[in-house]
Amino acid sequence: MTQISAKISDRRTFAIISHPDAGKTTLTEKLLYFGGAIHLAGEVKARGQNRRARSDWMKIEQQRGISVTSSVMTFEREGITFNLLDTPGHEDFSEDTYRTLTAVDSAVMVIDAARGIEAQTRKLFEVCRLRSVPIITFVNKVDREGRDPFELLDEIADMLALDVCPMSWPVGMGGQFEGVLNLADNNVARPEGDSRTFQGKVDADPTLPGNIADEVELAQGGYAEFDAEAYRNGDLTPVYFGSALKDFGVAELIAALAAYAPPPRPQPAEPAPVAPDNPEVTGFIFKVQANMDPNHRDRIAFMRLCSGTFKRGMKLTPTGHGKPIAVHSPILFFAQNREVADEAFPGDIIGIPNHGTLRVGDTLSERADVRFTGLPNFAPEILRRVALKDPTKTKQLRKALDDMAEEGVTQVFYPEIGSNWIIGVVGQLQLEVLISRLDAEYKVAAGLEMAPFETARWISADDPADLKTFADLNRAAMAKDRDGNPVYMAKTSWDVGYVADRYPKVRFAATRER
Ligand code: G4P
Repeated sequence: MTQISAKISDRRTFAIISHPDAGKTTLTEKLLYFGGAIHLAGEVKARGQNRRARSDWMKIEQQRGISVTSSVMTFEREGITFNLLDTPGHEDFSEDTYRTLTAVDSAVMVIDAARGIEAQTRKLFEVCRLRSVPIITFVNKVDREGRDPFELLDEIADMLALDVCPMSWPVGMGGQFEGVLNLADNNVARPEGDSRTFQGKVDADPTLPGNIADEVELAQGGYAEFDAEAYRNGDLTPVYFGSALKDFGVAELIAALAAYAPPPRPQPAEPAPVAPDNPEVTGFIFKVQANMDPNHRDRIAFMRLCSGTFKRGMKLTPTGHGKPIAVHSPILFFAQNREVADEAFPGDIIGIPNHGTLRVGDTLSERADVRFTGLPNFAPEILRRVALKDPTKTKQLRKALDDMAEEGVTQVFYPEIGSNWIIGVVGQLQLEVLISRLDAEYKVAAGLEMAPFETARWISADDPADLKTFADLNRAAMAKDRDGNPVYMAKTSWDVGYVADRYPKVRFAATRER
């Protein structure tokens, strides 16, 4: 095996998807701990607070105690390099969350054993499904009273239309919790004292509850067998039971990621998909974070490397715009601190400091002859009109809105008629972020008003004449996004269906690929 193909097959780039409170932070902490990246449980939170203290530009993060922006954590275990891309865990989320999922090869879905599939788990799952991202399920908190494991498995199968395959089994829950049984080798990891393990054969252990053998038989007989290909196609999810808090099932989860989760795969691109072992260095920007330091207008663009061996100082060109840029100080994200990268491989994430030249969705490559496709913009679910309190600040407002659209914090729409700029977001929290940052970073006092529209669709047609006819007849509802693409603003969602029926030659898209 060549060096690069070994590096590729040893990489797992993944994200954790979950509903708030299911235990994502706790599990992240334990994954990093098992991976040797942190030495004390609790450091993830502590680190988060440090970061927040350093970047107090985002006051909302502090006020609400949540991390709005995603980050990247790298750890190693038994020769495998894991890149864990964090997605914001709050109920409200931005397109950032979605786009992060375009940069991973697989995901871990964390479910609270007492709650089952919750709203945000489901939304994030749907995004994974759009891209056939394979999912390993971790049913967390089995040390507490939870729902019946069979009921949970059936719920996952029914609500997500997935085959499920239990890989482990909780022996009792809550007060009766005895440990977790590994169905592959019949070992039970049991609490001893307050945590941790000893092992024994399930049928040879007289202290286990009498019905466990029956349960296991049902669990193994009643669900799909594990099929690595079905998992990698996104049709089957292996399910692990555990407790992030008490360290049950975490090592098994890491082992499952190492054994089954796909290494970096070919990425959709034009003119043709790019295989990771292609020697040319290519990657795409899935996230831009501005103003990490309030004293400098710096930005970090997060690039997922898709092919080739990246070396520090290398020149990369953004496809379609701009000159080559020399990447002298790329950043790698090891869990304890950011490290300057000398080399990176497909599947790795590198941070590229820049002054606003790099945008979400950009492809970077050595020869500027490819373009990655499939980074979606999502139709906003909330639209607001921006009302400026001081009319002399129009220019600053435009700059701020363009900047934030570039980062993916909000979308901006410029109506064909009138001068009331409209911003669109997917979640309510983005609105608060916008107002707070306008004030803190751009010194622009602005408020938000209800917009006369409820949703927006990107429109296109095979024949430009059809598009023009539609736009001419619906001028009051037409706008352009920040890239000049035509957008239909609808008063109600019902309107979208109505115009789509009336204009069959026009396509109305709820996402737009960049
Ligand atoms: P999140 O990032 O998904 O929002 O969840 P987080 O890890 O913060 O966990 C939410 C709560 O659930 C925390 O309790 C955490 O300690 C608890 N928790 C996580 N995993 C387990 C588990 O395996 N078993 C049990 N019993 N509890 C678990 P909290 O009281 O809200 O926060 P804290 O004060 O303990 O930090």
